[in-house]
Amino acid sequence: MSFKITWLGHYTFSLNIDGTHVVIDPCLIGNNPVCNVPIEALPADFILQTHGHGDHISDTVDLAKTTGAQVVSNFEIANWIHKQGYENTWAMNTGGSYQFPFGRVKMTPALHSSGLPDGTYGGDPGGFIIFADSGTVYFSGDTALFSDMALIGAVGLDVAVIPTGDNFTMGPEDALLALKFLKPKVAIPSHYDTWEPIEQDMDAWAVVVRQETDVTPVVLKVGESYEF
Ligand code: NI
Ligand code: MN
Repeated sequence: MSFKITWLGHYTFSLNIDGTHVVIDPCLIGNNPVCNVPIEALPADFILQTHGHGDHISDTVDLAKTTGAQVVSNFEIANWIHKQGYENTWAMNTGGSYQFPFGRVKMTPALHSSGLPDGTYGGDPGGFIIFADSGTVYFSGDTALFSDMALIGAVGLDVAVIPTGDNFTMGPEDALLALKFLKPKVAIPSHYDTWEPIEQDMDAWAVVVRQETDVTPVVLKVGESYEF
């Protein structure tokens, strides 16, 4: 059993969960300044969509049409994807969970917004907890710090993938506080260094995380993976 998390830059991740390919928030070459992966190079059986913003959904429909992947999102985004001419979706909503072949997925709250690129209402933003045989991983999506992260952490997280870039989401200081609520074994920072307003020194952040928590920070370079 294994769970492999590959960072494609910004908040796009390619997962291999016991052989099933899951992509989080596809924003690829041409739309994501730090990603050099084209749609044709990315396998996908499922796409998990945290919210509707363009820096997360720019390549979702094209990747789905190319691969046939099922897109898992909130109800409003699923409806929008139907209107883009793609039917293989799975709608959920905040607090709900569903058993997929690779594991149970629970949609969590996020403190953010979720408008779609054409102005369509995108429902509430969210995150996902993936309960796989090999472990439990939380993808918070874009979010501010909120104290109910303690409830998310109560399930026992192996890995938490959180934004740290500031400006659009929580920054390094709030991300450190988030880890004190989430208490994962491992934390992977993301949503930074894509553009100038979210440039951050994550190596410095990792030093503070080691000093102040029991969490192991794993600072990936774009294209690198963490596997457990
Ligand atoms: Ni966003
Ligand atoms: Mn974003």
